[in-house]
Amino acid sequence: MFQPSSLPSLNGKTFLVTGGNTGIGYETCLNLAAHGARVFMGARSSQKATAAIAKITETYPQADVRVLLLNHVSLDSVMAAAKTFKSKEARLHGLILNAGIMAVPYEVTKDGFESQMQTNYLAHWLLTRELLPVLLATARSDGPGSARVVCVSSEGHRTFGVKKMIFSDAEVAGFGNFGRYGLSKLANVLQAKTLNDQYGPSSISSKGGNGEIWTGFLDAEVDASCTAALRHHQAIRRRMPCKPVLRGSRLLQSAPTA
Ligand SMILES: NC(=O)c1ccc[n+]([C@@H]2O[C@H](COP(=O)([O-])OP(=O)(O)OC[C@H]3O[C@@H](n4cnc5c(N)ncnc54)[C@H](OP(=O)(O)O)[C@@H]3O)[C@@H](O)[C@H]2O)c1
Repeated sequence: MFQPSSLPSLNGKTFLVTGGNTGIGYETCLNLAAHGARVFMGARSSQKATAAIAKITETYPQADVRVLLLNHVSLDSVMAAAKTFKSKEARLHGLILNAGIMAVPYEVTKDGFESQMQTNYLAHWLLTRELLPVLLATARSDGPGSARVVCVSSEGHRTFGVKKMIFSDAEVAGFGNFGRYGLSKLANVLQAKTLNDQYGPSSISSKGGNGEIWTGFLDAEVDASCTAALRHHQAIRRRMPCKPVLRGSRLLQSAPTA
């Protein structure tokens, strides 16, 4: 079974983890940094991020963790964060889209979107779009499997009765606090699927030599070496309309460690 301690050296690799100051995101930052990665900790509060980094460096004095200010309820803030990242780094090996809120009352952001959808999905989608050139450049220079995007979802879309994406504002407003969480988590799954279709191992981008991004959706690394039985299992999973992408510390399993 996968354990964070089984990660190999991540020296020379750069990661960005949203919502990195606490919870799953914090553990992810900690374990990536402990294995030598440079980690950008996406956070909306510089105070909380600084305290979290101090905690990491108490245990791992050599840890290279930096704050990237990023507030998901402001798309301007997302654009600014992407710009800041690109001004500092030419490569990005792992983009971990983790920040999230759950079951909050209905509210609309200043950008005009329901707050859970914007925090959990739209801000991540925009961040990914802005960082795609860096991810693809990393994939081209470092090879297949070197650039990965992890869309942290959950069972929320199943648990809270989400059957399909809802686009009508009125319907979304009446769908319940948990239902809206489920919608945003379905969007996370669909983002991974779309990224895989557009940039995954069998995509036109990959075949054309323009770069390949792994999302974990196809488990391409397993596909390359698996037995016929495993391949059959993978094929069944691929036909499922949506599945949770990764959860908890399994996030790290998807880190680009090749
Ligand atoms: N925990 C679980 O059992 C579980 C299960 C399934 C899926 N997940 C998913 O895993 C992810 C992390 O969950 P968690 O339990 O670790 O959550 P958490 O402990 O509540 O941490 C959430 C992180 O997201 C950040 N965040 C919230 N709103 C933000 C905003 N507007 N801008 C920037 N950052 C913001 C928080 O920052 P602040 O500290 O500033 O609030 C925090 O760093 C979520 O996507 C969640 O849906 C969790």
